[in-house]
Amino acid sequence: MRSADAVLLAVPLYNFGVPQHVKAWIDVVIAGAKSADETLLAGKPVVLVVARGGAYGPGTPREGWDHSIDYQSRILADVWGGELTVIEREFTLVGVNPALDQFKDIAATFKDAAHAAAAEAGKALG
Ligand SMILES: Cc1cc2nc3c(=O)[nH]c(=O)nc-3n(C[C@H](O)[C@H](O)[C@H](O)COP(=O)(O)O)c2cc1C
Repeated sequence: MRSADAVLLAVPLYNFGVPQHVKAWIDVVIAGAKSADETLLAGKPVVLVVARGGAYGPGTPREGWDHSIDYQSRILADVWGGELTVIEREFTLVGVNPALDQFKDIAATFKDAAHAAAAEAGKALG
């Protein structure tokens, strides 16, 4: 990680938090660092893409239930010093779970917005 020029992470939301393998990776990296607050990514561009099956935006029933982004931002930007860009991709289960069929249009909008944000972030990484 110290020799990385840039970092791209694509992380799904699992049960309102980070998947356990991501948490384990963070724990191992911090354990192997020179100190618990070594800025391993100081000044480097870091893009975090979070994929979620549902929707958690303002006004939704589960607004505030995504506990993964704040935690990962704390580690990637505040502990490791990365120049963090977060891209959120919601409603990935629309088209998979028939109960979400009514959200087809908004899901398509979210998808387009996430792709546009990813393309923009990709330019900065290049
Ligand atoms: C074990 C598990 C837990 C999940 N928990 C949530 C959740 O809490 N909220 C949510 O919106 N989606 C949840 N999902 C759906 C995933 O976040 C979603 O399908 C995401 O797009 C997965 O990324 P992938 O398709 O790259 O694997 C969960 C999926 C799995 C397998």
